[in-house]
Amino acid sequence: PEPSSLYEDVAEILISEEAIQRRVAELGQQITQDFAGSEVLMIAVLKGALLFLADLVRHVDLPVAMDFLAVSSYGAGTTSGEVRVLRDIDNNVAGRDVLLVDDILESGKTLKYTRELMLSRGAKSCSIAVLLDKRMRRQTDLEADYVGFECPDYFVVGYGMDVAHAFRELPFVGVVKGDA
Ligand code: IMP
Ligand code: MG
Repeated sequence: PEPSSLYEDVAEILISEEAIQRRVAELGQQITQDFAGSEVLMIAVLKGALLFLADLVRHVDLPVAMDFLAVSSYGAGTTSGEVRVLRDIDNNVAGRDVLLVDDILESGKTLKYTRELMLSRGAKSCSIAVLLDKRMRRQTDLEADYVGFECPDYFVVGYGMDVAHAFRELPFVGVVKGDA
C-alpha cells in the first residue's frame, strides 16, 4: 500500500500534543481530588474516547476500573435524541461512582442518554469528562463536569477522533484541509 499521507492532509493543528498532555494531567489531578476515597468506574464512549481515557487514567491517583460503551444515534441529524447501545459495558454500575469519558460534547444527546442510562441502572453518581466542548452546538441542558478545551465550530480529528475512520492515531487535535 501507499505510505500514509495523513499528516500532509492536516491543514492546521488546533491543539498541540503538549497542550493536550498538560491539560489531561490537570484534569487527572482534579478527578483525583474530587473522587478521593472512592473507586471510580471510568467508561469510555468508543471509539473517540480511547486515547483520552488511556492518558487520563495515568493521571488519576486512585483505584480505577475501566469499561467501554459503543453507542449510535438513530438517524444522524434528527432531533429525536434517540441513542442505541451497540456494545454495552460489562460492569454492574449499581452503587458506583461512574465517570463517562468522551471526545467531544456537541448536542449533548449522546451523553445525556448515556448518563440517564447509568443512573437508571443505579449508579450512585455519573459525572462526565470530555476533551472538547462545542458549546455553540448544544441542543440539551447537558454540561460536562470536566472539560479539556472549548472547541471552535470546526470538524476536528486526531487524538481519537476520526473522519471516515482515519486520523484517530494523531497525537494532536487538528482540522482536515478544506474543513477549516
Ligand atoms: P452529541 O453531543 O450527541 O451531538 O455527539 C457528539 C459526538 O459526535 C462525539 O462523541 C463525536 O463522536 C462526534 N463528533 C462531534 N463533532 C465531531 C468532530 O468535530 N470530529 C469528530 N467527531 C465529532
Ligand atoms: Mg463519540
